[in-house]
Amino acid sequence: MKAIWYTRSGPAAEVLVCGERKMPKPGPGEVLVHLHASSVNPSDVKKRAGAQPAGFENGYVIPHSDGAGIIESVGEGVPDRVGERVWVYQAQYGRNCGTCAEYVAVPSRLAVALPSRVDFRVGACIGIPVMTAHRCVYNAGEPKGKTVLVTGAAGRVGYYAVQWARLGGATVIATAGTDANCQTALDAGADEALNYRDGSLVERIGKIAGPAGVDHVVDVEFGVNADTSAAVLRNCGTVSTYSSSLAPEPVVPFYPMMFKNVTVNMVLVYNMPQAAKNRAIADITRALEHDALQHRIAEVRDMEDAAGAHESIESGRPGGCVIIDTE
Ligand SMILES: NC(=O)c1ccc[n+]([C@@H]2O[C@H](COP(=O)([O-])OP(=O)(O)OC[C@H]3O[C@@H](n4cnc5c(N)ncnc54)[C@H](OP(=O)(O)O)[C@@H]3O)[C@@H](O)[C@H]2O)c1
Repeated sequence: MKAIWYTRSGPAAEVLVCGERKMPKPGPGEVLVHLHASSVNPSDVKKRAGAQPAGFENGYVIPHSDGAGIIESVGEGVPDRVGERVWVYQAQYGRNCGTCAEYVAVPSRLAVALPSRVDFRVGACIGIPVMTAHRCVYNAGEPKGKTVLVTGAAGRVGYYAVQWARLGGATVIATAGTDANCQTALDAGADEALNYRDGSLVERIGKIAGPAGVDHVVDVEFGVNADTSAAVLRNCGTVSTYSSSLAPEPVVPFYPMMFKNVTVNMVLVYNMPQAAKNRAIADITRALEHDALQHRIAEVRDMEDAAGAHESIESGRPGGCVIIDTE
């Protein structure tokens, strides 16, 4: 099969190889998926660059967690799912073979039914961004009736967090770094969108949230935004944060948060509780069946251009998902 792989960490253009590899066979409990699309997420490029453990146990890594395709065959103990359209998540979590290939064998539960109306490229966008966003919105309880602040609302995760909060019945205040990104957040369903570069963010959020304050914050840059979160949250408010890349060792405004009984939830999508994954998958399935989620595909590339796709994610420029067609 055609695949992309690397045998050592390093810059994408230096280490990613495009070529032929032996086709995998589904083991017990696994399904073999003929992939149509794979998507690149920041954690895929961080692993490849060497910032996170990649998993070279077999001497090579086929990157990418997320993808979509059709089940080609099943391993022992799996009910017949041949021909089923699926989206695949966590294919390269704790395993060396991900979705940047024509085929991947994964445990059956990592291949979730994809409704017939949903394009494979959209299916490849789902795993990391949509599940992370779902967890960040729901791990503080049901959003109905709450005021939820979503920072970085035009980011891959933030964009879906706006949508989950809105679908769940919250009032959504979004922040983004450009007016165009604010518009993207509004188009995704945010009630208000604020450019965080314009200053006096606390005041502007406070005016929208009113004296009660914000109930819950979904945050892309915990360290940078912690003071703002502490200032705008109500007593017993919550923060769910999935990244702090600009301030990896953040200074926590302890007393402003303590005086408000703030709870900070750290989120990692890969090993979040199984019950949370099940709830996310159920809600995703329902949303896909009803066309209730919008998606943004920023770039579609060929497998030969996998390095370009990785570099694009590293640049932080694409507004949306970066897809590699694997068929
Ligand atoms: N913990 C997990 O399970 C998990 C899951 C997925 C992703 N992540 C991590 O989360 C980060 C974002 O991932 P992504 O795929 O969503 O990336 P992305 O699409 O590049 O989005 C990042 C967003 O952050 C925004 N941003 C930067 N500084 C900000 C600030 N001070 N206030 C508000 N927004 C700010 C940017 O907005 P503007 O361009 O508008 O400024 C950008 O839209 C990455 O570090 C990734 O590794 C973690």
